[in-house]
Amino acid sequence: MNTSLRPAVIAGNWKMNNTPSQAQALITQMLPLVKDASCQVVIGVPFVNLPLACQMCKGTNVKVAAQNCHWEEKGAFTGEISPQMLTELGVEYVILGHSERRTYFGETDESLNKRVLAALNAGLKVILCVGESLQQREANVTNEFVCMQVKLDLQNVSEEMLKNVIIAYEPIWAIGTGKTATAQQAQEVCKTIRACIASLYGKQAADGMTIQYGGSMNAGNAAELLSQEDIDGGLIGGASLKAPDFATIVAAAK
Ligand code: PGA
Repeated sequence: MNTSLRPAVIAGNWKMNNTPSQAQALITQMLPLVKDASCQVVIGVPFVNLPLACQMCKGTNVKVAAQNCHWEEKGAFTGEISPQMLTELGVEYVILGHSERRTYFGETDESLNKRVLAALNAGLKVILCVGESLQQREANVTNEFVCMQVKLDLQNVSEEMLKNVIIAYEPIWAIGTGKTATAQQAQEVCKTIRACIASLYGKQAADGMTIQYGGSMNAGNAAELLSQEDIDGGLIGGASLKAPDFATIVAAAK
């Protein structure tokens, strides 16, 4: 982290976990534990929990994220949620391009780029997820692959719009597997992403960009990962479902 250049952001990605009553209990437990955070704290909750989460986090230091959104404002898109629906609730962030969306729901860089543009135009901050598979890592194409994703997903995003983008580097092989990238592996790719941003938008934009690591980040390994120069936060899955663990990670981001 280098908080003199860019804000640190710890975001929980609850995925498809917690019913509204369970969400209420978890947020109630979490809020006092993270209230003195020196980083920005975000929780990414299922759609049905968004009204409750926004209400409970209002006036606190915690912001709320959705886990996806569509690119159109409204219309015949059964099952989809528009950025405007989110902003009216008080949602400030949206996680886009998570590898589970790409893998299980066929999201492509092309459709993701539309979601990114629509979300930014609606005033949402975007947490854009990129990351390689094990096969790609073993074939030594991690850096090229991740940079390609960044370029495709950010097409037509202006330098001004980029200020509302956070990139989350999430190696697919490390997600939910308990297999964390080493701090050096994570740092190397986050640095590569920053260099890619510099080539597209210039050094100032790259220096100012928050880049998170995600993939089995937990209370035990967060401090080491976050001590790396180019890792400015985390996108936390499993460990965000336990308030004390999430709070320990938040406390490590200082
Ligand atoms: P994990 O998930 O922390 O459970 O590995 C991270 C993510 O998918 O965002």
